[in-house]
Amino acid sequence: MVGAILSVAASMASVMLGCLDGCYCIITEALRIHPSTGLILERCTPKGGVTLHGKYIPEDTIIGVNCWVVNRDKGIFGDDAHSFRPERWIDRDPKDVARMRTNMFTFGAGARNCIGKNLAMMQLTKIIVELYRNFQITLVNPDKTWKVSGGWLTRQTDIVSVLRQFNLQLRARGE
Ligand code: HEM
Repeated sequence: MVGAILSVAASMASVMLGCLDGCYCIITEALRIHPSTGLILERCTPKGGVTLHGKYIPEDTIIGVNCWVVNRDKGIFGDDAHSFRPERWIDRDPKDVARMRTNMFTFGAGARNCIGKNLAMMQLTKIIVELYRNFQITLVNPDKTWKVSGGWLTRQTDIVSVLRQFNLQLRARGE
């Protein structure tokens, strides 16, 4: 009896871990395809300047890279870098996945990268799991293109969706 319970518990745990892996891949892919910051992550060149890719940049120059550009680099994320494909975090060669993880730029990189990354990932995973556990979420107009506005933070609008919980239906005001 105990053996049977343990075996059911083990298979449930493996299903739950599988779901969590899937959820983590979806969140990571969403953060890759739509990073929050839309401007470059600024750095100042050091005393004496710096030579990057053969080009000299004088000291005290503000330079930076945009997350949207790095995160869609086909050389790192594959030829389908412009597509939302969470499976890439599971089905690609482990070496490629490790490279993708190292190069994903959503939380920045180097000495000034985001110190809240792990906390943010934990919060996102909990929120997304609870949201989909409690609600059935559907887009009102699945074919309509979302609007994305650029700036320090990138924002989406026109994502009208319906959340259903039991008999409850929530709609955004003004619909
Ligand atoms: C999805 C959520 C988040 C995203 C996308 C994000 C993204 C970023 C980015 C792009 C940077 C600049 C990194 C760089 O220049 O290389 C940054 C820095 C920073 N983030 Fe976050 N962040 C998130 C959540 C958080 C949370 C939850 C905290 C704190 C609890 C946090 C604290 C910080 C701090 C303190 C810095 C400055 C680090 C430094 O300059 O040394 N972030 N974040």
